[in-house]
Amino acid sequence: MIRQKIVAGNWKMNGSKASIDSLLSGLCAMKSSNSEVVVSPSFPYLSEVSTALADSDIVLAAQNASHEEKGAYTGEVSALMLSDFGVKYVLLGHSERRSLYSESDQVVALKAKAVLEAGLTPMLCVGETLEERELNQTLVVCERQIQAVIDLLGVDAFSRMVIAYEPVWAIGTGLSASSEQAQEVHQSIRAFLAQHSESIAEKIQILYGGSVKASTSAALFEMPDVDGALVGGASLDAKEFIEIVKAAG
Ligand code: G3P
Repeated sequence: MIRQKIVAGNWKMNGSKASIDSLLSGLCAMKSSNSEVVVSPSFPYLSEVSTALADSDIVLAAQNASHEEKGAYTGEVSALMLSDFGVKYVLLGHSERRSLYSESDQVVALKAKAVLEAGLTPMLCVGETLEERELNQTLVVCERQIQAVIDLLGVDAFSRMVIAYEPVWAIGTGLSASSEQAQEVHQSIRAFLAQHSESIAEKIQILYGGSVKASTSAALFEMPDVDGALVGGASLDAKEFIEIVKAAG
């Protein structure tokens, strides 16, 4: 099954008007790619980035969304609001949201419901901590995180979603999972989904995230079940990010 690769940059809570202007001008030098290229700025910069990318093939993602549609939820941003800014994807369940902001599997599933209802595409982040890996719980954790969404929305929801496997121990550490480790987990995630729907399992794009660099990305993208990357730190460097996009082909 040929699945289009996605290379997404998660800028996290980084950037200023000046630095984002500089990053965008660097990215606009990017040649067209067979992969889908995505950038995910913080909320305050979505409008500016959306305008700057209007004539490019680069696609916009948000880093989170409320599970509520609208109302008295001070500080929250709804998926419907994001759709006003040309956002296509919404990162959900990032390990930093789960660990630092106590987002449970169930809240992440409710967020996925709200994002889908707004016509946007959830990018569901799953992954284990180092302790969980050392206890051989990697697949148990990833399957539990995915099952929570299946329980709420059914497996068919995954026909309109992307999964990002991000081992927590590889995020921001400079220590990427090896391409073999990534392939093993991606293959298992796909097999888990196949238990519910073979066609959805075959079609869904599964990205790898966790210290992806230009020097490591080619080997990752050679893996049959790695359909792209969710890049953090390296996405803040236009040259590095463009090299990762080139490696995706
Ligand atoms: O969402 C992607 C991010 O968690 C990975 O961060 O800096 O390890 O590429 P980084």
